[in-house]
Amino acid sequence: MKGIFPINKFSELRTPFYYYDTQVLRDTLSGIRTEVSKYDNYSVHYAVKANANPKVLAIIRENGLGADCVSGGEIRAAVKAGFPAGRIVFAGVGKADWEINIGLDYNIFCFNVESVPELEVINELAAVKGKVANVAFRINPNVGAHTHANITTGLAENKFGISMQDMDYVIDVAQEMKNVKFIGLHFHIGSQILDMGDFVALCNRINELQDKLEARRICIEHINVGGGLGIDYAHPNRQAIPDFKKYFTTYDEHLKLRSYQTLHFELGRSVVGQCGSLISRVLYVKQGTNKQFAILDAGMTDLIRPALYQAFHKIENITSDAPMQTYDVVGPICESSDVFGKAIDLNTVKRGDFIALRSAGAYGEIMASSYNCRELPQGYISEELA
Ligand code: LLP
Repeated sequence: MKGIFPINKFSELRTPFYYYDTQVLRDTLSGIRTEVSKYDNYSVHYAVKANANPKVLAIIRENGLGADCVSGGEIRAAVKAGFPAGRIVFAGVGKADWEINIGLDYNIFCFNVESVPELEVINELAAVKGKVANVAFRINPNVGAHTHANITTGLAENKFGISMQDMDYVIDVAQEMKNVKFIGLHFHIGSQILDMGDFVALCNRINELQDKLEARRICIEHINVGGGLGIDYAHPNRQAIPDFKKYFTTYDEHLKLRSYQTLHFELGRSVVGQCGSLISRVLYVKQGTNKQFAILDAGMTDLIRPALYQAFHKIENITSDAPMQTYDVVGPICESSDVFGKAIDLNTVKRGDFIALRSAGAYGEIMASSYNCRELPQGYISEELA
């Protein structure tokens, strides 16, 4: 089964571009709302890094999510889209002073701090402004995730977070400081995780750490478990809405949340992944020695995930129902890795056909580059093409 696209409207647009089906996005957000409303102390933040298209951000904000930002630019984008500053968290292993100042100026909810040197800088910058910044410590839980090595973040060998051994020390340091207030712990083990066992392992680790802290009479109000829920890249239509019920239930069943605590989530891919497709046109069909190539006008500059992570995106010829043939689907960039898929079965392709690369709503448009002096792809939502 193919996705449904307004092809007559596409003909007026310059390809390649991103197309966001807002019905899928709204259904996804409503799925999240339904599940989260079952718990009175869960708070979901959208990880802006997945997609910061203003039209997409506006819909997410309307649905009541907070924002998880990793740069000053993302904080600005979130505020501009109307996310309340009091629901913005700011993570990142290397926050620059100007970025910290933006967070302080907007009075964001919390800085997720990744080292003592960073804590010192936040304390100093907050003192200059006569403010007290809320901080949570990102603890590296040394929990592996069954996902691609480039997107697992919670192992001791990764650059992220503060080691569990240093946790007590860092909390002591923070409690001596006047311009930061220690309010919580933050974790994130990786992305595109479909095995709930990985989240169970994180819950178990957090339970251990909480017991240790309570033994020291340290109570924390906020636990943030990051994001990471994966999507079904192979079947974008069959499972357009990720299984949020299973995801939130896993935390409900395995994390020993205290009655006074709020549990925060930072979901990116699972919110926007399935609503987006990269739409491209076939430039040429070229016969190779043993294969044929469908050469698209979209390349790795528009969607880098296949080249960078060997990621799979379902490819469809959305203009044709002609019999299937097999193609290597490639882009126009002067790099051998500019390949979207090898030996892909597509309805017979001809010059000018529209090709959709599915499940590209997350880490697609936002990771586009202008390498080869190419123009960045535009993003359209279905509502504006209706
Ligand atoms: N919180 C933190 C601290 C993160 O580092 C990330 C993603 C998220 C939340 C959101 O994770 P999600 O729910 O989207 O899995 N560019 C890669 C993914 C990089 C993920 C980086 N961190 C890709 O295209 O697969």
